[in-house]
Parts: sequence; structure tokens; C-alpha cells
Amino acid sequence: MLVTGKEIMDKAHKGGYAVGAFNVNNMEIVQAIIAAAEEEKAPVILQTSEGAIKYAGMDYLHALVKLAADKASVPVALHLDHGTTYSTIISCIANGWTSVMIDGSRFPLDENIAATNEIIKIAHACGVSVEAEIGQLGGIEDNISVDERDARLTSPSEAKKFVDETGVDYLAIAIGTAHGKYKGEPKLDFERLDEIKKLLNIPLVLHGASGVGEDSIKKAVSLGINKINIDTDIRIAFTEGVRSVIEGKPEEFDPRKLCTPAKENMKQVVKTKIQLFGSAGKA
Ligand code: G3H
Ligand code: 13P
Ligand code: ZN
Repeated sequence: MLVTGKEIMDKAHKGGYAVGAFNVNNMEIVQAIIAAAEEEKAPVILQTSEGAIKYAGMDYLHALVKLAADKASVPVALHLDHGTTYSTIISCIANGWTSVMIDGSRFPLDENIAATNEIIKIAHACGVSVEAEIGQLGGIEDNISVDERDARLTSPSEAKKFVDETGVDYLAIAIGTAHGKYKGEPKLDFERLDEIKKLLNIPLVLHGASGVGEDSIKKAVSLGINKINIDTDIRIAFTEGVRSVIEGKPEEFDPRKLCTPAKENMKQVVKTKIQLFGSAGKA
């Protein structure tokens, strides 16, 4: 069933676990994630970036996820990931998304608060949940000093001001992760996370979680992360599946033969993440 992001996130916050938020771009990815969530009896968030919408079309992505959610026995939310333009965010609210992210993290705090409030007013009137972000995620290639890193990570006092002045449903914070494929293991600032969770007492979101070690993920969940965004690990699982067929049988040209192992790989990755995040059995 299709539900709001807030319904899923409030339960995770109260229950002390995290829900996987997996990026979707096509039918195979949607089917693999839903199959994994069903097998694990887990609530799940399917999210579309602006790039995914450009690639597949808003109507196609909505139709795919709506059908999958209606058929599923687990709660499913459809979320806009990193919404940066007013028109995309409002179109998602108008076209059946049950959660949107307004990513104003590149703005100064007051501008981010103002932009978030503008979206919250409309989204909440339509029954759609809202995620916002403060702090800057690192770039994978970054080679920065400790002071520079600290300046980018989410300030607990700014996070408190942000939540007090917006009433956002869940907040993405920067504690040392980056989007994409890591070269080494990222070091997360758990003290900062602990302080922010105690101050805010709302559901928190971790972006850039592909490639983060199991122990770090478990600790982040134990300290109050409730939504964990995974894209890169699914891309790798898909591509490895396709590559294995092409390498084994270069003359293969049936897309279904290429995509079947890809789907199975993605399903296994998503099942493992769901177990790690603690949302298995929580549907
Ligand atoms: O956070 C970014 C997500 O991985 C989406 O990436 O914009 O290439 O779809 P994308
Ligand atoms: P990864 O691609 O690093 O998993 O990040 C996903 C993400 O944060 C989507 O918003
Ligand atoms: Zn992200």
C-alpha cells in the first residue's frame, strides 16, 4: 500500500530502526526493491531524483511505483530525492508523490529555512511529507582539513533552529558521508549525530550510505538515523548482473536475459540492507 513518508518515518523514530530509501529509475529496480521488502516484511521508501524523472518521466515513475505499492503487502512511500527546483517539487506533490525533499543545503541557513517553509505549507496542505537538509555532504574526491570538514558537517545548534522554525517532518544531516563510490571507509561523526538526535528528537536521514561499513551503519541507526539512502550499491548490483551475462555469453541480445540476474542481484543487496537497518519484520 502507498503511504506517506511521515507514517513510515514516525514509526521508525519511535521504534529505533531505519528504513531503506532506495533510488529507482526503471521497472527492474522497482520490482527488485519491492520483492526484497516483501520477503523481509519491511516498510520501504522508493525515491526518484530529478535525474530519474528526466530519464524515465514523472508519469512513468509514478505509475510504476503506484502499481507496485498497490500490489504490495508492505507500506511503500514514493519520495522525491534532492528536490531543488520549485516546479519539480510542486509537480511531485500534485502527481501522487507521498513525500518530497526540498534540498536547500546549498543556501545560507535563513534562506534554507524560508525555502523549506514555502514547500511545507503546500505539501502539508496536500498530505505530503517533507524532508529537508542542512550541512554539506562531502565529495568522494575531497581531501580536506579537519576544520574544513567540521565546517561542512551539520551544526547541532543550526539544526535545532531549523527544526524549530520549520516543523520539517524529517531532517537529513551531514555527519561525514558522501554520495557515490568511496575509495576508503568514511569516518562518521557519531558524537555529532548523538547530540543532534537528543536536541531535535525527530526522524533523521543519512544520505550517501552506499559503501559505508556495517558497524558504522549499525551505530548510526542506534544513535537515531531512521532513513538511509542507497543508490550507488543498487547501480553496482544492476551493472554487475548485466556484465556477468555479457561476459559469459557476448552474443546474448535479449534484454530479459541481461536483466534477470541484475534484478536478482539488486534484490539480494536490498534484503541485506533492510536486515542491517533493522526494518525487517516492521511492516
Ligand atoms: O543523491 C543522488 C542520488 O544518488 C541520485 O543520483 O541524480 O544521478 O539520479 P542521480
Ligand atoms: P549513494 O549513491 O552514495 O548511496 O547515495 C544515495 C543518496 O544519498 C540519495 O539521495
Ligand atoms: Zn542524497
